[in-house]
Amino acid sequence: MGTNPPVDDWATDYDIFDEDYVKDPFPVWDELREKCPIAHTERWGGSWLPTRYEDLQALVRMVPELSSRNVLVVSQKREDREFDPVLAEYGNSAPPITSDPPDHVPMRRMLLPLFSPKATEAHRPFTEALCHELIDGFIEKGTCDAALDYAVHIPAKTIAKVIGVDVERTDEFVSWIRGLLEEGNTDLEKRNKYNGILRQFFGELVDARKAAPRDDLISHLLAQEVNGQPVARNAVIGMCNLLLVAGIDTTWSSLGSALLHFATHPEHRRRMATEPDLFPSAIEEMLRVYAPVTMAREVTEEVKVGDVTFQPGDKVLLNFPAANHDPAAFEDADKVILDRKKNRHIAFGVGSHRCAGSNLARMEMDVALRVWFERIPEFQLTDPDAVTWVGGQVRGPRHLPFKF
Ligand code: HEM
Repeated sequence: MGTNPPVDDWATDYDIFDEDYVKDPFPVWDELREKCPIAHTERWGGSWLPTRYEDLQALVRMVPELSSRNVLVVSQKREDREFDPVLAEYGNSAPPITSDPPDHVPMRRMLLPLFSPKATEAHRPFTEALCHELIDGFIEKGTCDAALDYAVHIPAKTIAKVIGVDVERTDEFVSWIRGLLEEGNTDLEKRNKYNGILRQFFGELVDARKAAPRDDLISHLLAQEVNGQPVARNAVIGMCNLLLVAGIDTTWSSLGSALLHFATHPEHRRRMATEPDLFPSAIEEMLRVYAPVTMAREVTEEVKVGDVTFQPGDKVLLNFPAANHDPAAFEDADKVILDRKKNRHIAFGVGSHRCAGSNLARMEMDVALRVWFERIPEFQLTDPDAVTWVGGQVRGPRHLPFKF
């Protein structure tokens, strides 16, 4: 897919995988928002990068001109795709995230009741016990990797429980998802490999539940109808695949970023440890400031947005994280204000594809941070240089060496 020469001009040649940008993209967004609010690059297959809140709000509503059929920030050109027998059998869609009208709404409706506030709260005791158990595992040592020993397990095990897959296999699930979303971001062979593993895993499970239904999410989905017809097997496989993928890396990243913030901001840390009422607004502020997810859209018809014209086949990156830092939409946008009153961030996206799992993500962050602060009110990084980041589709820290 090409090499990675340094960037001279972010407006015309940005690189979403540039190491410094992945660590600290904020100055680039601020500059682009002022000078060139919708930047362009030829790198990684070519794409457009909007940075203003107002533009993001408009772009998500441009349906069907901007299609969700390809939401990955880097994609393989159709003609370059190697024939893959697993993908040929199971397909490559992940409804509802890859669905456009008219399929999108019925697919999304199947999932929403499973992630309602009430349905989500039912999982709180499990997540709470899990957080305590994880902390029990390292608290005596006085050190941990907060990304790998804590943050990753919370969304991974909770979503495994929600879907009804083996909670003891989450290390394996995480390795598949990292293969798909991290290494697979730029290494398309790896992406296909892990996509294939995931689809085969869920394919077998879906067939097993078809033969012998249980009281679980997969059986519930299989019992649904779309336009009077039983939902297609491949659609259920795609939905399960999406839930596991969307449920892990995203919340892991938000939680890791929040823990890193508190490890490096002593005043904020002390407030969190002593003001439990602060949690709801503080979590929203962490989501705003460290929004992890960038989605893409494929242009299907020529559209003009501001000074630029998108052509069919172009890719547009929905840079929700940059919009969350737009001073036109947020007072003191560059400041972290734990009790921010007005915070209409779009970390969960906006419009018809807005995150279906946001209640679950918020519950997990709330529990994970409450239990952490209750047990470990004081903590720091052992070595700031040892913190590592991933970026692209999902941005977040992957090593967080802490002492306490
Ligand atoms: C902090 C954590 C999370 C963030 C920041 C996040 C972010 C997002 C974003 C930005 C979208 C919009 C996609 C688009 O416009 O193309 C989305 C969609 C979605 N998310 Fe999340 N997500 C998170 C956690 C979760 C969790 C825990 C689940 C649970 C399974 C989940 C399930 C979904 C689903 C199913 C969609 C597709 C909705 C649709 O297309 O109608 N997400 N998410």
